[in-house]
Amino acid sequence: MIKHTLHLKAPGNWINDPNGFIYYKGNYHLFYQYFPYAPVWGTMHWGHAVSRDLVHWEHVGVALFPTRMEDKNGCFSGCALEQGGKLNLYYTGVMYEETEAENIHVCVDNKLLSSQLMLTSEDGVHFDNFTGKTVVIPTILDEETGDKRHTRDPKVWEEDGQFYMALGSTYRGETGRVLFYRSSDARNWRYVSQFRGKMLGVCLECPDLFRVGGRYVFIGSPMDILREGVVYRNHAICMLAEFDAGTCTMTAARHWQYVDYGMDLYAPQTNLDRDGRRVMVAWMRMPETVEDAGQTPWNGMMCLPRVVEVKDGHSYFRVHPETDAYFTHKVPAGQKPGAGPYRIKTTLKEGESLDIGGYKVWVEEDCVMTDRSKVFSGIEGHLLTFHTPELNGEYRLDLFVDENLVEVFVNDGQYVISNIVYGLGDFVDGHIDEIWQGEVIQRWHECKHSM
Ligand code: FRU
Repeated sequence: MIKHTLHLKAPGNWINDPNGFIYYKGNYHLFYQYFPYAPVWGTMHWGHAVSRDLVHWEHVGVALFPTRMEDKNGCFSGCALEQGGKLNLYYTGVMYEETEAENIHVCVDNKLLSSQLMLTSEDGVHFDNFTGKTVVIPTILDEETGDKRHTRDPKVWEEDGQFYMALGSTYRGETGRVLFYRSSDARNWRYVSQFRGKMLGVCLECPDLFRVGGRYVFIGSPMDILREGVVYRNHAICMLAEFDAGTCTMTAARHWQYVDYGMDLYAPQTNLDRDGRRVMVAWMRMPETVEDAGQTPWNGMMCLPRVVEVKDGHSYFRVHPETDAYFTHKVPAGQKPGAGPYRIKTTLKEGESLDIGGYKVWVEEDCVMTDRSKVFSGIEGHLLTFHTPELNGEYRLDLFVDENLVEVFVNDGQYVISNIVYGLGDFVDGHIDEIWQGEVIQRWHECKHSM
């Protein structure tokens, strides 16, 4: 079985959104959108990985795959809920009305029908795809309620003995919306209300509404919110919200943040960890497939799990304590990190910079800036430089460097910039306070960095 440490990556071929993220019977389960045959998006399955600590992951196979009419062209994104000791998976089944003649994994002109299904597993190990699936919300035919094609990504939660489901959708292909359903048994669902808004793009994917520190936070992935001309026009956003559970009325604060300012992260999903913290995981989109010798080519990985907290009306995405605990070895001053991921801690001043194997980080005009142009060459249509909003003179950085991903946590998660990179050099240079590594440290080298 394929294992990953720290970042969950595709076990070969293609992955996208995290699905069914849950702490269940002593393990974290992270399912993911998975195309098992090639490193491209196609007919979706749910791959399944398990971890004791959110750091060491083991891929344990395919949990969901198409078996019935409603999901014959894919098991799209969804969530997990523990109910009476069992594990419920909720997901979107899609059925294409027309496929490309040469590639049945691709739908023509968005001619698809979506419905919402569930499957209950007794133990989180066995998933009866042949007889265990139930359609819980059939294709919505009333346009005012939903969209028959683009209604997807159920997120279910329990509140005061009732169950709620948020679904992403579009109003006439022009405005994103969230549909709210309620149920007393997590099986029979009744439509209650919806929230529409221009900040939800032309269509909303992967809605998530949850309470943290007494406040509701809404996270979603609106489509087409960035200008034309870039490949990624869909981006995950986050905002404070109010939710009246009685009427399922959501109101959202006008101010919103990006979940991540590196613009590669997408489709976040949250759930509670073992200790009741609200934790977010998300897909890191990769424009190029990685072809390492001896490995099946792979595309797609997850960001580090992040603890969501709200302080003074702002959402923070902080390093998870389990990630913290992994980095046990301090690299001696003057040496550079050995093989494997490493963590750099530093505080910069205006004008100071870091060069991490060609990936640049610096402070300018009160923002933390990053530039990946040296480690992202030859890839068209993607942004190369990124910046946080203004930071009021405070630039404490906590960086996590893995082979294809650099995550820059600024001021304890006030903002995060995460960037996919290709071909990072094995040097670090600039104003660095500390470097830390985990259990696998194989080689030490002389290093230029100033301590
Ligand atoms: C988001 C998304 C979801 C959908 C899934 C299909 O990346 O488009 O809305 O369920 O991916 O793979």
